[in-house]
Amino acid sequence: MYNPFALIGKTILVTGASSGIGKACAIECSKMGARVVITGRNEERLLSTFEQLEGQGHASISADICQQNDIEQITATTEELDGVVFAAGVSKLKPIMALNEMDLQTVFSTNYFAQALLTKSLLKAKKIRQGASLVYISSISGNGNTATGLSVYGSSKSALTSYVRYAALELSGKQIRCNTILPGRINTDLLQNSTMSDEQIQKDMERYPLKRYGEPEEVAQTAVFLLSDAAKWITGTEIKIDGGRTLV
Ligand SMILES: NC(=O)c1ccc[n+]([C@@H]2O[C@H](COP(=O)([O-])OP(=O)(O)OC[C@H]3O[C@@H](n4cnc5c(N)ncnc54)[C@H](OP(=O)(O)O)[C@@H]3O)[C@@H](O)[C@H]2O)c1
Repeated sequence: MYNPFALIGKTILVTGASSGIGKACAIECSKMGARVVITGRNEERLLSTFEQLEGQGHASISADICQQNDIEQITATTEELDGVVFAAGVSKLKPIMALNEMDLQTVFSTNYFAQALLTKSLLKAKKIRQGASLVYISSISGNGNTATGLSVYGSSKSALTSYVRYAALELSGKQIRCNTILPGRINTDLLQNSTMSDEQIQKDMERYPLKRYGEPEEVAQTAVFLLSDAAKWITGTEIKIDGGRTLV
């Protein structure tokens, strides 16, 4: 049956697949027919994702993307890819006066450096096929939606979003597409681990025109679209998925 959104025959690497958005991306990709290579640090949670994948031929690699050796291990282990979802990331809710160098290093190392270094490593080893689609999970926090305490997180995501536009231009000659997804708040561990109280979360949710936070699957379905042939003329763009948060 004709379905330009299907991922049948494609191999997709998903980082951050042990939790939240990355996990949902891996599962949704498998449901759309892709062979999925999942990666993350926590082996137990990675196994739980692996067990929920549909279809056959999937692989799992336990790795810390902030370690160059681990980036090289991911690169060496994966076969040629038709797509990558870069979903690994960390958040930090801390006022500017309380930030220390380690905070800056951890957040930028994960949300920016690791993304650029993994991209380079995969390209250099020719693991990204002509016509592939690279999807980076950034955030509306990096795109004009500012909030107290999120300066380092937001600026790391701004850097990532900007990087992806340059990557889209540079890789266009190889027909490799690069796009960013900018989610608003999504119900994942990232949110559960934040220092916001339940009351603050409830108040924040009210600021969303659609009056709720998003679900990981809703972000994953946007990633599936960008990975699919239905998006083959889309590159260098940012798709907001935020329940209208940036309208107000
Ligand atoms: N949730 C939101 O509200 C929201 C909004 C906008 C954007 N985002 C972005 O969406 C992405 C996914 O976030 P999430 O909400 O799904 O968070 P999450 O549930 O906390 O998942 C984060 C994932 O990143 C992985 N990760 C973190 N550091 C890593 C490292 N050094 N090496 C390898 N993997 C690492 C974690 O792996 P392990 O657990 O195995 O270490 C985990 O799989 C992030 O880039 C985040 O910034 C989230």
